[in-house]
Amino acid sequence: MVLVGPSGAGKSTWAAARYRADEVVSSDALRGVVGSGPHDLDASSDAFDLLERIVAARLGRGLTTVVDTLGLDDARRTAWLALARAAGLPAVVVLLTTPPELCRERNRGRDRPVPAQVITGQIRKAGSIATTLDLEGWDEVHRTDETGGAAESAPERPLGSTTSTTAERRTSQGLRFVLQVGRFPWGEDPATWLAEVALAADRAGFAGLALLDHLIQIPQVGRAWEPIPEPWVTLGLLAGLDTGLELGTLVTPVTFRPPGITAKAAATLDALTGGRAFVGLGAGWWEREHAAYGLPFPPARERLADLEHAITTMRALWAPGTKSAGGLPETTCYPRPAHEIPVIVGGSGDRTLRIARAHADAVNVRTSELERARAALEGSDVRITVLDLPTIGRDRDDTWARVERLRGSTKATAYAERTYAGTPAEQRVRYGALADRGVDTVFLAVGDLDGPDDVERLAPLVV
Ligand code: CTP
Ligand code: MG
Repeated sequence: MVLVGPSGAGKSTWAAARYRADEVVSSDALRGVVGSGPHDLDASSDAFDLLERIVAARLGRGLTTVVDTLGLDDARRTAWLALARAAGLPAVVVLLTTPPELCRERNRGRDRPVPAQVITGQIRKAGSIATTLDLEGWDEVHRTDETGGAAESAPERPLGSTTSTTAERRTSQGLRFVLQVGRFPWGEDPATWLAEVALAADRAGFAGLALLDHLIQIPQVGRAWEPIPEPWVTLGLLAGLDTGLELGTLVTPVTFRPPGITAKAAATLDALTGGRAFVGLGAGWWEREHAAYGLPFPPARERLADLEHAITTMRALWAPGTKSAGGLPETTCYPRPAHEIPVIVGGSGDRTLRIARAHADAVNVRTSELERARAALEGSDVRITVLDLPTIGRDRDDTWARVERLRGSTKATAYAERTYAGTPAEQRVRYGALADRGVDTVFLAVGDLDGPDDVERLAPLVV
C-alpha cells in the first residue's frame, strides 16, 4: 500500500489509525533512525536505502506493508507496484485528497514547516498524479475523504448492556452466533470457569453455547492430556445458570451412545432449560477415541446409516404420545422436551448432506464448504450453519500478536489467511458476506478462548 499526498495531507495519521506501527514503513521515521531526526534531509539517501530493503523483505514474506513517503516520485512508486506484483500481493494506492489549503495550514502549524513553495510544488505534482494514477495498474486507487480521513470506528457494544432474551438472538446482519467451546483451561475450578464463560456469552448476546463431544481432546484443538469434559453432563451444569443461551453439542458422534440415550439426555436438557436444547449430530471420525473407550468404529458407510437411523429414533422418542414408531415398540420418553429440539447434522459429504436434507433442521459445514451445502440443500428449508475458526483481536496489533502466538510453525501470513485474522470490524464484513450467502448461524470457535475476558473480546461481533 503506497500513500500519496503532499506534506500535511495526513498520510502518517491515516496510516497510524489503520495499521500496526510495524506495518508502516516511513521515510521520515527512518530519517530519524539514521539521521538527526525525521526532517534531516541529509539522511534521505540512507533512509530510502533502508526503506527499500524493509519493503522488499516484508513483501518477500507476504506481509502487509504501508509505504509512508510523499509517494510523488513516479519511479519509486511504480517500482513498489512491481515488487508487490513479483511477490504476488495486491497493490493499492491511497491518495490523500486533503484540500491544499488544509495541507498548507497544517504545515504552517508544525515545528519545522516545509517551505511554502515546496508545498506548492508537491500539491501540483499530486494533482497531476491524481489524473494518471488509475492508469498505473494498481488493484485499487483509494481516495480518502476531504479531511485526510478519520479512523473508522469498529462497532462497539458496551459490555454489560442489556441483551435480548427473546428466543431469537440475531445480529443486525441477520446471523445467530453460537459460541463453541472446545478447550477447557479451567485451572483449579472447572465449574466456576464454565459458569463465567457461559454468563459472559449470554451477556455478550450469543444465541447459544455448544460443546465439543469427544472422549479425548482432539489434536486440532489441544493435547490428549488436556481436559475435555463429557458434554451432556457439562450442559446440565450450564442449564442451572440464569441465561437465555441455547445449549447443545457440536457435534455428538452417533458412535458414542445409542441414539435413545442421546435423545433422553437432550429431552432432559430441554425440559431443564425451558426449551433451549439442540443436538449436533455426526458420523464420528476419530478412531483413536473409540478404541480407547472400547467403542466399535464401523466403516463410514455404516456410521452414516447409523446417523440416519439415530435422527429418526430421536425424533420418534421426542414426538408426542407413546406408540410404536421408527422401529421402536413404544416411544416412552419422559420428561417431554419443552420444544421441538433442533437437530444439526455436521459434515459436508454427499451422503451426509442427503441425510441432512431428509431429516435434519440444519447442517453444519466449514465456511469453505458452504457452496457444496447450498447446492445440496437448494429448495429445502434446512438451515445452513457454519463452523468458523477465526483469529480475532481487539485491534490490529492485538490480532497480529495472537497470530504470532497461535501459528505454531505455520507461516504467519498463511495462518492469518487461513483463520481470517482480523479485528471485529473486519470480521463483520466477512460475516455480512456469509449472511448474504444464506448462512443462518455461525458457530464461533476461537483457539484462544482462555476465559470470560475472551468472550467479551468477541462481543462486538454479536451486535
Ligand atoms: N491531521 C489532522 N487531522 C487529520 C489528519 C492530520 O489534524 N485527519 C494533522 C496531524 O495531526 C498533523 C498534520 O495534520 O499535525 C499532518 O498530518 P500527517 O499525518 O503528519 O501528514 P503527512 O501527510 O504524513 O505529512 P508529511 O508528508 O509531512 O509526513
Ligand atoms: Mg508523514
